[in-house]
Amino acid sequence: MTVLGIETSCDETSAAVVRDGREVLSCVVHTQPEHRRWGGVVPELASRCHAERLPGIVRAAVEESGVGWSGIDTIAATRGPGLASSLLVGWSMAKGVALRTGLPLVAVNHIEAHLHSVFLDPAAPPPEACRPMVGLAVSGGHTSLFFVRAGGGLEPLGRTVDDAAGEALDKAAKLLGLGYPGGPVIDRVARGLVPQEGVFPEGRLHGGAAPAGLDPELCTSFSGLKTALLHRVTSSPPRSEAEVARLACDYQAAVVGALVRRCGLALERTGARFLAVGGGVSLNSSLRARLAAMCETRGVRLLLALPKHCGDNAAMIAGLAGTGRGVRSPESFDLDVDPSWAVSSR
Ligand code: KG4
Ligand code: ZN
Repeated sequence: MTVLGIETSCDETSAAVVRDGREVLSCVVHTQPEHRRWGGVVPELASRCHAERLPGIVRAAVEESGVGWSGIDTIAATRGPGLASSLLVGWSMAKGVALRTGLPLVAVNHIEAHLHSVFLDPAAPPPEACRPMVGLAVSGGHTSLFFVRAGGGLEPLGRTVDDAAGEALDKAAKLLGLGYPGGPVIDRVARGLVPQEGVFPEGRLHGGAAPAGLDPELCTSFSGLKTALLHRVTSSPPRSEAEVARLACDYQAAVVGALVRRCGLALERTGARFLAVGGGVSLNSSLRARLAAMCETRGVRLLLALPKHCGDNAAMIAGLAGTGRGVRSPESFDLDVDPSWAVSSR
């Protein structure tokens, strides 16, 4: 199956062609630079930029794939979760292309696709051989932990109850005057420093504070951490680059520590032997190192996406559709975008 995938859930405009779920024939990603001056993604701006760029990006992806329109047999796009107005651009275009070409249309869940991104690495084992597994999707928009059943259905285990991990890093970078997006800068300035444990509190949930059906111990909360940094910066402002780097490092350690501990607990509770981690924050060097150490101790195989597939991209959308997941036509044609679309347990 050769799938043309489209992704426009946030501020990346992307199209890709992927064969049989894993072989990336082309993947064009455009990160909209327009949001930088605002220090965060502006939804109206994002949808306008998607509308302007997407047709050319789809054309480029088909051209670069080398198979041409005649070699494509399925159209797939992100239906949610994400920004409503952004999703609408990609989903409408996918519907239009599917109608025009007479090809089947698949609605893909963005979070599930982040977990599939690890399988776009040719060195990864086949997805069927890695299930049941635990999956963590961690980016600027989401921090969600899942149990992926042998048959491929997803069971939510935990998620953040406030900020996503990437958002927590982005906000910290802003407070520290490091710019946007903050994750990569914090990663860079913290490199080489040894974090002091416990300087910043790891947000924990107690009792009934977790969303219904989720384990409080597998949920995260990053808003307290951000407030702790705010207090710290206002009461004793860092006086040098070195002090900023030290704060960034300790803050990053709290975020990474929270994620690694949740993953470890989820592996323990489910007995899974595989852990897949995808999303923009999975680029973080400290997170990668600490996950690798934790998995080695447990004898668990860690699956990480190639750096080019960690952020939002359409290859993960086309890839996941190519494995048979998602909602297919004719049902898909009746669907509108869903900004908070939950993953499917089937
Ligand atoms: O997956 P992504 O491109 O878009 C969303 O769906 O949000 O993720 C973007 C997020 C941003 O919050 C960014 O700061 C974070 O990923 N990020 C990082 C790193 N590179 C990007 N966070 C930590 N360390 C990095 N190296
Ligand atoms: Zn994403």
